[in-house]
Amino acid sequence: MPVKNRLSEMHDEITGWRRHLHAHPELMYNVHETAGFVADRLKEFQVDDITTGIGKTGVVGVIKGRTDTRGRVIGLRADMDALPIEEATGLDYASTVAGKMHACGHDGHTSMLLGAAKYLAETRNFDGTVVLIFQPAEEGGAGALAMCRDGLMDRWGVQEVYGLHNMPGLAVGTFAIRPGALLASSDDFEIVVTGKGGHAAAPHDAVDTTLVASHIVVALQSVVSRTIDPIKRVVLTVGTFVTDSAASNVIAHTVRMQGTVRTLDPECRALAEERVRRIAEDTASAFGASAQVKWNAGYPVTVNSVQETAHAAAAAEAVAGSVNANTDPIMPSEDFAYMLEERPGAYIFLGNGDTAMCHHPEYNFDDDAIPAGCSWFVELVERRMPVT
Ligand code: NI
Repeated sequence: MPVKNRLSEMHDEITGWRRHLHAHPELMYNVHETAGFVADRLKEFQVDDITTGIGKTGVVGVIKGRTDTRGRVIGLRADMDALPIEEATGLDYASTVAGKMHACGHDGHTSMLLGAAKYLAETRNFDGTVVLIFQPAEEGGAGALAMCRDGLMDRWGVQEVYGLHNMPGLAVGTFAIRPGALLASSDDFEIVVTGKGGHAAAPHDAVDTTLVASHIVVALQSVVSRTIDPIKRVVLTVGTFVTDSAASNVIAHTVRMQGTVRTLDPECRALAEERVRRIAEDTASAFGASAQVKWNAGYPVTVNSVQETAHAAAAAEAVAGSVNANTDPIMPSEDFAYMLEERPGAYIFLGNGDTAMCHHPEYNFDDDAIPAGCSWFVELVERRMPVT
């Protein structure tokens, strides 16, 4: 069963929504017009319930199936926010807002979930409830977490949750997924080392912070190479190293370093944090200096649960004819991870063809992917909650 006929009929209409959203990008939590557009469409479709202002500017819609004999509830999620990038596509529906652009295809995700919502509200060919989740601030603002903290999962009784992301380089209308870790966690750290500044010619009267911090940088490289299981994937990089000395004959009093840790394994993530703290503090202490470590936890690892991945893959296969069900994980991060921490579910890649990579000023979402994306949402719902 390929793309649903009704969704093919709706292709032009959904493309119109997508291009409207593309021309009017909004950032982070300030997605007021986009959220309003979503809520207006859901009203038009006569979904059963619409709630705005969840996770500041998120929108939740509810569609009840023709029957509800088993109390099943499935969440479908799309992200609504754009990026602070100046668009360089030259398209006739390009961004009308200077310095803002839908360069990650969230306009496509939102439009495809709206298309699925219209179809599901028309047909209601399922037994249970669909919760439509439109979130703000995926790009660095943890909008998914904000919606979860507003009680998203419990308030709407979501039992499993699914999302998709377009993927440049993958053929349009094809799907790729894997069980387990699909996208990395991303944490930043800052280490401030304080010693005792002094004259370069009298190091015995000082505590040379530059030397202490250098030992810390070298020792941090032992975290991945000596404490992480070699078959696990972790990256640790120290990206900045700034002393407060401005002269060659001055021993620095403080050194500030910043770095990042990426991993596909939640246990490695916790271990890396513990080791970074210990190495920085204890190495500094061994030299008579001190180190303050600030850990800024970013998005968690995006972990697809096994059973729900199989359901997502089966729906994709039904739509596209085949599916890559064991694609390689990649190291960007994604805040849908927070929803997957609360409920079982899965995240899938939808091919976006031969376009510039996401976050590039020449990136463009391919509207030819729309029928496949909409059909995947719908197929998933009708398969997971069949009318008996
Ligand atoms: Ni994105």
